[in-house]
Amino acid sequence: MRVTIRELKDMYRRGEKIAMLTAYDYTTARIVEAAGVPIILVGDSLGNVVLGYDTTVPVTMDEMLHHIKAVVRGTQKAHIVADMPFMSYQVDPADALINAGRLMKEGRAQSVKLEGGPQVTEAVERIVQAGIPVMGHIGLTPQSVNQLGGFRVQGKTSAGAARLVQDALALQDAGVYSIVLEMVPAPLAKLITARMAVPTIGIGAGVHCDGQVQVIHDILGLTPPLRHARRYAELGDATHGAVTEFVAEVQSRSFPNDEESHAMDQEAVERLAASLPA
Ligand code: KIV
Repeated sequence: MRVTIRELKDMYRRGEKIAMLTAYDYTTARIVEAAGVPIILVGDSLGNVVLGYDTTVPVTMDEMLHHIKAVVRGTQKAHIVADMPFMSYQVDPADALINAGRLMKEGRAQSVKLEGGPQVTEAVERIVQAGIPVMGHIGLTPQSVNQLGGFRVQGKTSAGAARLVQDALALQDAGVYSIVLEMVPAPLAKLITARMAVPTIGIGAGVHCDGQVQVIHDILGLTPPLRHARRYAELGDATHGAVTEFVAEVQSRSFPNDEESHAMDQEAVERLAASLPA
């Protein structure tokens, strides 16, 4: 049985911090689950770190489904959150419900996440009414990068901060079970967290959120350094080193050696050689 919304709520009530991490493929998802992550986000950040798009805007439902299915196949216990891609929920609430339903039925995710404040509350209500748990996402909402004009900290002015508090409360009223706060000042995240009755999950939002989420490529050192992402490994450098060594050893003929090759009976080799035209 996978981690349920009820279990996440219990963690929140007990004051246990919630660790959430992205994964986009079978192998990584297996490792992330085995390391004890209770909630895995198949984020549309896959557009950046897996597919090489410059933003998350081009990511499609089919691309999301392809990766969600791989992550679900690689896990048994973790709660899988499926990100709703740009334009899969903004047009109208009925459309949003159909697309959320696909992520649950075809993708086999346990909940969905979408970005925005009051402009998406109708869609949230519609999806929640159908029995699909929804995670909200405010602050820096990467799908709106063209409107925000860049990937900047949000809510730094008192008017902007007040708007984010209102957005969080509106999403809570609409029925979200949790809310991501991305790139908001730590004091504002603390203030919002204190006023919410559902867990806040921060990214670039300080330590006072109820949980933390990170893009796995960022914490493994596979992407350029970011202020809000601690690097727990340098897999980019390690991979570069390993691949460079592989190339050199292929060229020098030191790979593969006898232990890495399969032997054959010498007599059989000789019989074969003798039977072949010279
Ligand atoms: O797509 C994503 O990975 C996200 C996280 C950054 C919260 O939305």
